[in-house]
This record gives sequence, C-alpha cells and structure tokens, in this order.
Amino acid sequence: MPTLFDPLTLGALTVPNRVIMAPLTRSRASRDGIPTPIMAEYYVQRASAGLIISEAIGVSRQGNGFTYTPGLWTDAQMGAWKPITQAVHAAGGLIVAQLAHNGRAGHHTVIGEQPVSSSATVSPVAAWTYDGPKPSEMSRPLAVEEIPGLVASYSRAASNAIAAGFDGIQIHAANGMLIDQFLRNNSNARTDAYGGSIENRLRPLRQITQAVVEVVGADRTSVRLSPNGATWGVDDSDPTPLFTAAAEMLDGIGIGFLELKEHGPAGTFLPTDVPRQSPMMRRFFRGPLVLNCDYDRTRAQADLDSGLADAISFGRPFIANPDLVRRLYERAPLTPAADATFYTQGTEGYTDYPTLEDIAAVA
Ligand SMILES: Cc1cc2nc3c(=O)[nH]c(=O)nc-3n(C[C@H](O)[C@H](O)[C@H](O)COP(=O)(O)O)c2cc1C
Repeated sequence: MPTLFDPLTLGALTVPNRVIMAPLTRSRASRDGIPTPIMAEYYVQRASAGLIISEAIGVSRQGNGFTYTPGLWTDAQMGAWKPITQAVHAAGGLIVAQLAHNGRAGHHTVIGEQPVSSSATVSPVAAWTYDGPKPSEMSRPLAVEEIPGLVASYSRAASNAIAAGFDGIQIHAANGMLIDQFLRNNSNARTDAYGGSIENRLRPLRQITQAVVEVVGADRTSVRLSPNGATWGVDDSDPTPLFTAAAEMLDGIGIGFLELKEHGPAGTFLPTDVPRQSPMMRRFFRGPLVLNCDYDRTRAQADLDSGLADAISFGRPFIANPDLVRRLYERAPLTPAADATFYTQGTEGYTDYPTLEDIAAVA
C-alpha cells in the first residue's frame, strides 16, 4: 500500500506526495476580490504540499459572499493571480483553483444584491459583512432562465484560472454553498427541473462540471462534496442515494479526482452522527478519492492502507504548519492553528507561522 509520501496521479497532475492542502478561505484579498501580494508568500510557504487547493475563489460578484475573498471574474483579479501561481510553480508546487458561488451565504452589502439560492430560505448561520456578522437574509430563488448564466460564470472563471496559471479547477460543491444548496433537500424546495428528484438536484452540479470540463478538460477538473452532516445549515434527509448518484455521475464525466469533506462524531469541525459516505461513494467513483477532515498522520495512513482513500487533504494543520509534509514525515510536533486570525487581514497568523527550520534557528 502507498504511504502518504508516495506520488500519485490525479488526472493530468502527478503530485509528489499524498498530503494535499485543503481549500482555506483566509480573507486576505481586497474588497473587490483582487488577490494581494502576501497571498503569494503564503502559498509559496506551503508549496511542498502534494497539491495546493486554493481558497474558495468567487465566480461572480453575486457569488463572492464572504468578505475580503478573491475572485476570478475580472481581468484585474486574473492578473493578480498570475504572480501567485508563478511563485508556487517556481517553488516546485502545484495549485488548482477552487471555484465557488456562495449562494445564500452572502449579504447584499457585500455582493450588491439579495443573495440567490435554489429556493427562498434563510441560512441559520450569520452572514459576513464589512461591519461584522449580520443575520442572514432571505434568498431569492434563481429562475430557470438564470441557470445558463450561472453555468457560464463557472466556465468563464475556469478559463480565467487557466490563463492565470492554475494547474486545474476544483468545483466547490460542498459546505452549504450554492451547488450544495441545490443538492441537499433541506435547502432545495423547487418543483421544476432543478428540484425534487435526485437527478434534478444533481443537475446544476452536472451542468457546471460539464461546462468546466469543456474549458479545461476532465483531467484538470475536480469536485469537492461534503456528504455527511449539516454545513452552513444545508443538510439532506437521505444522503446515501444522493451522494452515491453524485459519485456515479462524476465518474461518468471522468473528473481527475473527487474530494470529500466528511465530519466524524467526535470531530472538532461540526461533529455529526451521520455516517461517512465515502465507503459507499468509493464503489461508484473509480477515480482518485481525496478525503478530508480531522486527519492526523495515523488516521490518514490507515485510510490509505484500507484502500478507502488515495490521498488526504489537511486544512487547519496547513494553516499553522507551512512545512506540514516534512513534519508528518518526521513525526515532528504540529503547531496548533489560531482561530482568531483565520479571517483577519494582514500577515499575522498568515505568513508568520514558523517552519521546523525557523524553530531550530531560534532554539
Ligand atoms: C479558516 C478555514 C477556511 C476554510 N475555507 C474553505 C474554503 O474556502 N473552501 C472549502 O471547501 N472549505 C473550506 N474550509 C474547510 C477546510 O477545507 C477543511 O475541510 C476543514 O478545515 C477540515 O479539515 P481539517 O480538519 O484538516 O482542518 C475552511 C476551513 C477553515 C478552518
């Protein structure tokens, strides 16, 4: 069985190890979604990851619902990503762009309009605004005639991402964002071709994935799902038929890899009793499977050994340990991540986490 430190082929990408950096929103961009130079330093510091999955990047202003998060819908945004991807490549790393539309997880003061979703619902989670958290607003259901425009926003952003030097795309269909608001039945009450049956609820994900594949190729396209437990208030009463159907559909399209964020009953990140869906989904998705959430080295290697996963993505450990691959390899202690600076601006809690070498230098 492979170890975490063996190479792997993820579609068109051959990654040097199986320690993947999970997508992490860090809110260090400008208010108009333009990446800032400190983001290059941050990603370069983490370039020894087998693959970096970028923070969520908005496909449109309508979808860029968090504060200080980057986009890929304007030339200025695309231009500002170029030095970041170049710097990651120069450091020997690979980076794919996670493309996102937040749907109802937005606020009119940030996105300039009433948030949209599959249906008229209110997220139970507070909205992010430039004046601090505010109660979420009632969402406006997208009209059927608006769906082609939504799909096109993903293909445009995908094309911009490739022009900006990204090595591929991850479609963010997890964590209660817009695609997930269509997928799961506690947020989708539609009675048209985009609601009700599993096939209908899968339709936006299928159309968006096919559109991205047309632009960048299936072997440079990946998808992230969060199949168990509520995320951002989005949940499903019967996840197994839904997510095995999603796995089968994505297998048919032939995407480069599928990433699943799965919560455990005792996890530190939204614990849930809903069982992990990966064992069932693995039977339907035959490509590489990347698993996430609350992993340490022992659990990660165990899931590779059992054949459940091909690689593991790490989120918070990569925030606080830029040299995570080396630390896992050497079984060195990990620095804990400080929540207080997850979404603050500036370098504190962002580019100032030490490597083992930095720690040795001051010892
Ligand atoms: C600060 C922070 C920002 C996050 N941003 C994103 C994001 O932009 N896109 C996404 O899919 N998940 C996001 N997540 C979820 C992580 O990718 C990951 O699933 C989660 O941290 C659990 O993995 P871990 O236990 O290794 O940290 C974020 C998590 C944290 C802590």
